[in-house]
Amino acid sequence: MSDAAPPIDLDGLRDDGLARIAAATSTDDLKSVEGDVTGKRSALLEARKSLGQLAPEDRKTAGQALNEVKTTLEAAMDARRSELAAVELATQLESERLDLTEVPTGVTVGHAHPVTQAWDELEDVFVGMGYRVAEGPGIETDWHNFDALNIPKGHPARDGFDTLYVEHGPPGSTLLRTHTSPVQIRTMLAQEPPIYIVAPGRVFRRDTADATHLPVFHQIEGLVIDKGISLADLAGTIEAFTTAYFGPGYTSRLRPNYFPFTEPSAEFDVQRPDGSWLELGGCGMVHPNVLRAGGVDPEEWSGFAFGFGIDRLASIKFGISDIRNYFRNDVRFLSQF
Ligand code: DAH
Repeated sequence: MSDAAPPIDLDGLRDDGLARIAAATSTDDLKSVEGDVTGKRSALLEARKSLGQLAPEDRKTAGQALNEVKTTLEAAMDARRSELAAVELATQLESERLDLTEVPTGVTVGHAHPVTQAWDELEDVFVGMGYRVAEGPGIETDWHNFDALNIPKGHPARDGFDTLYVEHGPPGSTLLRTHTSPVQIRTMLAQEPPIYIVAPGRVFRRDTADATHLPVFHQIEGLVIDKGISLADLAGTIEAFTTAYFGPGYTSRLRPNYFPFTEPSAEFDVQRPDGSWLELGGCGMVHPNVLRAGGVDPEEWSGFAFGFGIDRLASIKFGISDIRNYFRNDVRFLSQF
């Protein structure tokens, strides 16, 4: 019987199987190759059936050899299956990919409020002139806001301020600061001269909002204390600021005025290139009483101060006619600046 059995070409079975596995182009394709190579229709299974025709002593070796070929083919199939599955997954992911990185056109990016823009620009101009930026609290003592600034209790200048008081301590002792001038006092008490500071900040007054008034607005205060500071230094500083902030076509002038905290005092105006004048703020030589309240000896030091409204400056710069728009949070207004 053993003579009748056809010789099994194991190498041929293995090489043919490996070639077909390698040639499979998809996991589905590989499934049908599997049927042909190791499945019920396979030459391998046929060969296994023919083992029965071998002599018993040959059957075992031939069986082992067949099993080795089967194991080799199965391993090759597993490897090819993972390979093909990975490619198919990558293809699927790529085809289902959503590009979320694109920024749709027409999306607007926010920007600083016009008052903040003016505030920042003012700081830049004065820092560029060698000044430091100082701060003080929005809730002040009556002393820092008035007494120390040479506005004692009963002084008529107090009436002009429409002060909002806070319920804290003895009645009338604590308030929402009506101007940034108390930062002059706090700065002098905190540091020795020479002093070159600007203090931008929020101030409060008991006012009904209209096109030109708000109960909450912003000022910037300036204070210089040094040896031998004169009115000429003040005028020169106002002029330098005017050109730096508004541009080369602009110039400034001082007009006599009265403030309790300065002597002499002045109003300063800015002239536009077309010749028209804008009233901007107040200034003057720091009153000796104010220097003393700040712990500065008026015999040794002198200085000047100035203060003006940031909101008003911004409305001039941007051509805003109703400053209530600053607080309406209407993007149609805000997006113009
Ligand atoms: N504090 C004044 C106000 O609110 C403005 C002012 C005037 C400030 C003259 C000054 C100054 O420093 O010298 O009306």
